[in-house]
Amino acid sequence: MIKIAVLGYGTVGSGVVEVIHTNQEVINQRVGEELDIKYILDLREFPGSPVEHLIVHDFEQIVDDEEVKIVVEVMGGIEPAYTFVKRSLLAGKSVATSNKALVAKHGAELLAIAKEKNLNFLYEASVGGGIPIIRPLATSLTGDIIDEITGILNGTTNYMMSKMYHEDADYDAVLKEAQAMGYAERDPSADVEGHDACRKIAILSSIISGKLVDFEDIYTEGITKITLDDIQYAKAMNMKIKLLASCKRDGDKLCAIVAPHLVSKEHPLYNIEDVFNAIFVKGNMLGDSMFYGSGAGKLPTASAVVGDIVEAAKNPGHSVMATWDADKLELEDKSDTTKKFFVRMKGAVSEWKEQLQEVFGRIDIVVLDNKHDEFAFVTEIMSEGSYFAAAKAFPQICQMIRVK
Ligand code: HSE
Repeated sequence: MIKIAVLGYGTVGSGVVEVIHTNQEVINQRVGEELDIKYILDLREFPGSPVEHLIVHDFEQIVDDEEVKIVVEVMGGIEPAYTFVKRSLLAGKSVATSNKALVAKHGAELLAIAKEKNLNFLYEASVGGGIPIIRPLATSLTGDIIDEITGILNGTTNYMMSKMYHEDADYDAVLKEAQAMGYAERDPSADVEGHDACRKIAILSSIISGKLVDFEDIYTEGITKITLDDIQYAKAMNMKIKLLASCKRDGDKLCAIVAPHLVSKEHPLYNIEDVFNAIFVKGNMLGDSMFYGSGAGKLPTASAVVGDIVEAAKNPGHSVMATWDADKLELEDKSDTTKKFFVRMKGAVSEWKEQLQEVFGRIDIVVLDNKHDEFAFVTEIMSEGSYFAAAKAFPQICQMIRVK
């Protein structure tokens, strides 16, 4: 029998218990032994719940118990999760976690400890919820150089953008819905400001580069400035606005960004709606591929965590996960990265068109029938540096969205 302890009985923690109980027979068959939840650590009591007898409040009880072989960290946040995970590994226990903040900040160190001690530190659920993406990148695609990963990596914001697009729904109302469904982070600014997606793309970038991609180095912009007017322009151009988290190889450098982008109908990410996530991966041998599925929510996320528990249980004394160095990778300067820009501007087209063409070169003008005091234009591909230098001359610009 393999004894495990679950740290945190919130949305994901209760999902882990549910997945193990629902699929117990087949999970045990796959492990080759019975998986048994010995403890659940939480500050709260759960009187009358079927797990009442498993609840403990003191982590020392878990770390000191030699019977516990796998610790499942689903508390979220950096502390006390970091301390508990590190101490669990140092005490000889493998760890499965869904905690992207922890993996993005301390992944290199925790993976190194796990490797040194022939344990497993597994984190499939930290990116893309239930979608298998970590293990494919770390194992199946190791024959490739990955040239690009572009993902819709945050379920909450994709849900919000979908509702705003299809139902002209109000921003605050759809955020509340996403929270009620258990998609949003405890502090939803982590979703809408792009910080959650930033940590996820930092993890994927670290895996494909083998070096630490520091999430603090990634330019991050959320969806808070996106309005129904922007969505109206997107519709007029047969496009949608999606919060994309991307890392791309440019020569010998890697550039990474999190920002809302206009995505055209031809791109595979255009059709990703609601809470679904998708990760577009381009390998130099594989070509294009896409990983798609439920990116947030109790059972999808718990499914990925339980997959990691099974993997750890099947590999005692043998570290299976690829690691990355603690040396920081220097990312390409954002000013040097190139793309098209969608720009909204106050005023009349006839008044500004010539001056805009002088500064930006060729532009495509977009006008909406119901907007008489503004228009929009899309530039040709140019560097971010050149865009911002050119845009300085036009204080009438009221919005800019990057085009994928
Ligand atoms: N708040 C996250 C999301 C949860 O909306 O995607 C999954 O990481």
